[in-house]
Amino acid sequence: MKKPIIETRGKLGVLLPGMGAVGTTFIAGVEAIKKGLGKPIGSLTQMGTIRLGKRTEKRVPKIKDFVPLANLEDLVFGGWDIFEDNAYRAALKAGVLDKTLLDQLKPELEVIQPMKAVFDQNYVKKLHGTYVKKAETKWDYAQMLMEDIANFKEKNHLDRIVMDWCGSTEVFIKPHAIHEDLENFEKGLKENHPDIAPSMIYAYAALKMGVPFINGAPNLTTDIPALLELADRNGVPVSGKDYKTGQTLMKTILAPGLKARLLGLSGWFSTNILGNRDGEVLDDPGSFKTKEESKLSVLDYILQPDVYPELYKNYYHKVRINYYPPRGDNKEGWDNIDIFGWLGYPMQIKIDFLCRDSILAAPIVLDLVLFMDLAKRNGMKGIQEWLSFYFKSPMTKPELYPEHDLFIQHMKLKNTLRYMMGEEQITHLGIDYYED
Ligand SMILES: NC(=O)c1ccc[n+]([C@@H]2O[C@H](COP(=O)([O-])OP(=O)(O)OC[C@H]3O[C@@H](n4cnc5c(N)ncnc54)[C@H](O)[C@@H]3O)[C@@H](O)[C@H]2O)c1
Repeated sequence: MKKPIIETRGKLGVLLPGMGAVGTTFIAGVEAIKKGLGKPIGSLTQMGTIRLGKRTEKRVPKIKDFVPLANLEDLVFGGWDIFEDNAYRAALKAGVLDKTLLDQLKPELEVIQPMKAVFDQNYVKKLHGTYVKKAETKWDYAQMLMEDIANFKEKNHLDRIVMDWCGSTEVFIKPHAIHEDLENFEKGLKENHPDIAPSMIYAYAALKMGVPFINGAPNLTTDIPALLELADRNGVPVSGKDYKTGQTLMKTILAPGLKARLLGLSGWFSTNILGNRDGEVLDDPGSFKTKEESKLSVLDYILQPDVYPELYKNYYHKVRINYYPPRGDNKEGWDNIDIFGWLGYPMQIKIDFLCRDSILAAPIVLDLVLFMDLAKRNGMKGIQEWLSFYFKSPMTKPELYPEHDLFIQHMKLKNTLRYMMGEEQITHLGIDYYED
């Protein structure tokens, strides 16, 4: 018999390293929803339902009425940034939400002042941080972040905290010996090892304090044995990497359908234009490489060329991101997909997605915060694979391949909720409806 989940009580702090477009669209969005100025569209925790038992039972509660999640009224926001702007000014600069909406939220947003960041320009070449902490070693930075977390908790009388990296994409790094175990990692912090990125210092501080950590960017961050060891030791859940929005969302919706119908693929060319700060950061080849790795792996895992060599062995896959300032956060993503069908006859699919990046990302941040808090209260620790639904590059145990198919991810998420609450799994077999 499963242990009952600990009910939510008191306030939940949400700490964001990085209060840019995604971070402020999330915070302002929650404040707008609380005031009845908008609806939480795109959020499973707020609008989604879950079927329980047989179809004939007609039990379909809202997810938020089924599992004990923190209420929006109980969220308290904070964070760090390398620029001093409060959440109101940062949201205005990000240019995602209308000024008229932001003005109605000004009192709530103006009081959210970022704390000074831990920043290293070697990791984000295009940004010049002015609002940053100063210390001798990375170890000292970690201690300062832990102090920030403790002060935030005390000042706001919080019961629990979740941390979500909404900071810029850092340059691509490969796992190094320093990342192999916690002892080496801590030595590396003390010796200022260059392969310890700022996002890893935030994650270390969070995990040390028992705070669940989400990685919204494609950075390596918690995807290293040292930090997973710490998460395990302290009983803390982690999840990542890289929110699944825009073009990759479309890819993981479409590719499973092509594969289900056994349609072949000879090429998939994806290109984007975007003009926000994220686009500027990704204009640097180091940061782009991190993003590219995250975006490219998706198709191989879904299409399984080794299992279906005649259909998917030699497809050409290219992903391009182009910084184009006039578009701001309103990205345009084109996909040209060359497929083939019966007897090898070629066909083409074109997608032109005029999307709004941060509008797609904000509900993901909200759901992840609430589900990671739920996981922590439910005694779940380490990688939360059931939250793959939200990520471009889902974290898994090294011996497992990640599941990218959005529909399998969705089923996995809902079955995990059923499992947590002691409800039957739904297999969609349904044959019993036709048996006497
Ligand atoms: N749909 C999406 O927008 C989307 C999807 C997937 C992933 N992401 C990722 O989410 C992250 C945020 O995206 P965004 O559009 O909000 O970008 P953004 O540039 O608007 O915001 C990032 C913020 O992080 C700050 N920052 C950078 N380094 C920092 C550090 N060390 N400590 C604290 N703050 C730091 C920057 O000053 C900036 O304000 C990026 O890594 C992006 O790749 C975004």
